[in-house]
Amino acid sequence: MKVVTTIAQLKKLVNAAKQANKTIGLVPTMGYLHDGHLTLARTAKSENDIVIMSVFVNPTQFGPNEDFESYPRDLPRDTVLAESAGVDIVFAPSVEEMYPTDGGIKLLAGRQATILCGASRPGHFDGVIQVVSKLFHLAEPTYAYFGQKDAQQVAIIETMVRDFNFPLVIKTVPIVREEDGLAKSSRNVYLTEHDRKEAPAIYEALNIAKESYKQTKDAAQAIAQATAHITTNTSGRIDYLQLLSYPDLAEINDQTETALLATAVYIGKTRLIDNLIFSLKGE
Ligand code: PAF
Repeated sequence: MKVVTTIAQLKKLVNAAKQANKTIGLVPTMGYLHDGHLTLARTAKSENDIVIMSVFVNPTQFGPNEDFESYPRDLPRDTVLAESAGVDIVFAPSVEEMYPTDGGIKLLAGRQATILCGASRPGHFDGVIQVVSKLFHLAEPTYAYFGQKDAQQVAIIETMVRDFNFPLVIKTVPIVREEDGLAKSSRNVYLTEHDRKEAPAIYEALNIAKESYKQTKDAAQAIAQATAHITTNTSGRIDYLQLLSYPDLAEINDQTETALLATAVYIGKTRLIDNLIFSLKGE
């Protein structure tokens, strides 16, 4: 496995792979890898000749009062884990390498970015599509792999790929969970012992809402039941808990084929996100 830090080094390897007609799977990450990322890498490895994983904590997707500085970083650990999951190239650039100048040009994620995480993290998805579009140009992937845990992110990136004709296919990989249901996340390291005990209530609540909605088709009741489960079983604060159509992220109605039940909850100081995507077809 090669670890490269400059765009020039990466382009050399990508050009060689392209000349040899190899397929490239790209796994964009912000590092501090967990099983979720490694599942993305393993899936990419099973579907491509070469897997490139980017490890870059992207400053443009963090708000001024967010955790950019304290976001967990450990590149030596990440490279060992990446290699064990079959990654061929780790691309770990510096901020200066990725953003040498500020030419003032910004990308603007659209309507899908104004709700859910976008409502409480203004500009977040603009930063995500900025870095992801750069990574797509640099790695020239055949397939790019994203976790369903960031379902809104996936929906927005799919829109960008479609609207701007990026020549690649997005693959979404299911959420990887701890045994008690907590979705794996690099931010789980922030949880205190007390927080960690409360955190599985989030996934339980999503399942309660899903079953309730499937039986009654009453979105307000489903959300109320899930809210009650979180407020009764945790000291957390709900940022949002919403049922929407997926991937367009619009209000759910009788025609909706696929639903997204998504939540963000502050458990202690940690903001955790989780979701379920389920079919409503033929039900
Ligand atoms: O999902 C993430 O970890 C990040 O948003 C991504 C896609 C790597 C862009 O920085």
